[in-house]
Amino acid sequence: MMDQQQLNLQNVLAFAKQITEEAGNKILHMLQSEKIEVSRKSSDTDLVTQVDHEIERSLVTQIAQKYPKHTVVGEEGMSEINPTAIYRWYIDPIDGTTNFVHQQINFCISVALYKENEGLIGIVYDPLRKEMFWAGKGLGAYLNERLLQAIEERRLHEALIGTNLIWVRRTRKWGLEQQIYEIAKRCRGIRSLGAAALELAYVAAGRLDGFISLHLSPWDFAAGKVLINEVGGFLTDFKGMEIPLKNEKYGLLAARNRVHQEILQILE
Ligand code: IPD
Ligand code: CA
Ligand code: CA
Repeated sequence: MMDQQQLNLQNVLAFAKQITEEAGNKILHMLQSEKIEVSRKSSDTDLVTQVDHEIERSLVTQIAQKYPKHTVVGEEGMSEINPTAIYRWYIDPIDGTTNFVHQQINFCISVALYKENEGLIGIVYDPLRKEMFWAGKGLGAYLNERLLQAIEERRLHEALIGTNLIWVRRTRKWGLEQQIYEIAKRCRGIRSLGAAALELAYVAAGRLDGFISLHLSPWDFAAGKVLINEVGGFLTDFKGMEIPLKNEKYGLLAARNRVHQEILQILE
C-alpha cells in the first residue's frame, strides 16, 4: 500500500499515463467491435454510452487497487467518494460523448490527480490521433514526448477562441449574450470542438489562444487546469477567480494572460 506522504509524481504519472492509454485503446476497440448503445441523461445534449461506463469502471478499479486511500470522482459516478481523502482523482472516461456518438472523432479521456486543491497531474488523451497531453506540477507540460513551451502572449484581435455555442441558450439566463457576441466580433476566429477537456489541452498546446464555456464540471477541466498552469496560462471563473473543484457547474475562462484580461474586461 502506498504511503500518502510519499507519493512520487513521476511514478504516479507513469501509472496514470499507462492506464489512460490502455483506456484509449479499449475505446477504439469497442468502437470497432460493438454496437454503441446511447442513452440520454438530463437532456438531448447530455448523452452516455456503455463505453463511458465501461471505461470509467475500469479506471476506477485500477486506481483503487493501486492507491486504496485515494478517492475517485468520475462523471458517471462509478465509485464511492470518500469525502475525507486527501488525494482525489477526477476522471471523464469520454469527454465529447456527443462527438463520439455522432462523428467518432474529437473525443478524449481526461484524468487528473489533486492533493486537496493542488493539481498534481493532468492527462488528456485523444486516442484516435494518439495525442497525449500530460503535465505534472513543476515538471512541465508535454504533448507525447515534446515539451510544450510557455505560451506566447497575444492580443484578442489575433486570437483563436474555443467555445461551445450550445450554451447560447444559457447565456440568456446568465445575461451574457452581448458579451459573447462582443468576444466573437473582436477575436480572429471562433472554433468549436465539442470536447472541453480537449479544448483546454489545445489552449496549453497553443492551438487555441483561449477557451470559454459555461456549465463545466470538475472532471471536464481538472486535467486541463494542470496543463494550462504548467505553460503559464490562466484558468478562472468569469470574475478572474480560482475555480474550486466542488461537484457543481462552473463558467470557465482559460487563456493566455493578455487574452484572459481582455475577455475578462468584456465579461465585466
Ligand atoms: C461535455 C463536453 C462539451 C461541453 C459540455 C460537457 P461530455 O462533456 O465537454 O464540449 O460543452 O458542457 O458536459 O458530456 O461529453 O463528457
Ligand atoms: Ca465532459
Ligand atoms: Ca463524459
